[in-house]
Amino acid sequence: MDVNQIFQHKVPWLQNPDIRPYVYVRDENSISQPGKRHRLDWFSKAPIFKDPLDLAELPFAEYIYHIENIAFGPSAMPMPRWVFYDCAVMPGFVCGFAYKKDKLPALLKAKLPDFGDIDYVPLSLFIIIPTMHKGEWVAHNLCSVNSFLDKSDQFYGLGFLSKAFGLWYANVEQCSGMTQWGSPALKLHSHYGHLEVIGAYAPVHSHAKTVTYRAQVNASSWELFFTKEADLEFLEQYEKTGLLIDPKNEKSMIEIQSKIQNNEGPFYLNASEVLANDLKAPLDLYKPKGY
Ligand SMILES: CC(C)(COP(=O)(O)OP(=O)(O)OC[C@H]1O[C@@H](n2cnc3c(N)ncnc32)[C@H](O)[C@@H]1OP(=O)(O)O)[C@@H](O)C(=O)NCCC(=O)NCCS
Repeated sequence: MDVNQIFQHKVPWLQNPDIRPYVYVRDENSISQPGKRHRLDWFSKAPIFKDPLDLAELPFAEYIYHIENIAFGPSAMPMPRWVFYDCAVMPGFVCGFAYKKDKLPALLKAKLPDFGDIDYVPLSLFIIIPTMHKGEWVAHNLCSVNSFLDKSDQFYGLGFLSKAFGLWYANVEQCSGMTQWGSPALKLHSHYGHLEVIGAYAPVHSHAKTVTYRAQVNASSWELFFTKEADLEFLEQYEKTGLLIDPKNEKSMIEIQSKIQNNEGPFYLNASEVLANDLKAPLDLYKPKGY
């Protein structure tokens, strides 16, 4: 099946007129030429715009907090309100998908408090923050209501498409980020461009078993997340190093971290392998051929 057929069968919500992408940025941070950098026709619907500084739109933020806090509760990383305001809303770009409140499916409505008068309810959250390094943004948060919905009620691809929308809309050239080894999120993050492991162990973080990554954003390979086909371009350019990271073994992370620090890298993950692998299975590290 090609990606359009998969969208029709597995991602029908993307065409639902009651669901739209949203952009939640203060005026000064708005993107002047959205979607100009990456060639992609997935996001034809105009986003809804929400102003984080407008008191009338506070209920939208309350929904964001609620969804985010449930999603990150199990990993003990719910986002404090000041972090969202100081580190996301002020410097960065916040987006996702939102559902018209009066059309919300009963199953989802039943799982959410009513935060008051607002036209749309967010379903997902993606935050990116520009860095001092020109062209590089840090992905700071990604979550979706799928994390607390039964499989049959989920919006397939919601998390993946929320990050894709943000990278596309904000013309992001290079995206770095952090996630925990063994997290399902790595299946998503590895698909936006060849993922270089720039840190394999992060004791400075509250979770030391964190992978820090960087990718040159390349929208032409995003469909592989849905088709689950091998990334042939990656296989042409990279080869296995024989080194493994084991999400169950902290020592393997420290060993790779030491190699990165000794300039023995760069090390990359193979997105198809990350997608196909069991979450707790060891992952091969790759290097550019002939490096
Ligand atoms: C991780 C998260 C953002 C993924 O978003 P999502 O909307 O659930 O995922 P999508 O629908 O976009 O993608 C589904 C695919 O992701 C992968 N996936 C998602 N959750 C998974 C899980 N629990 N176990 C294994 N794979 C999983 C699978 O590949 C799945 O496709 P498949 O069913 O065909 O195998 C979301 O589950 C979430 O909010 N988690 C809690 C917060 C979090 O950990 N965020 C990441 C921080 S870096």
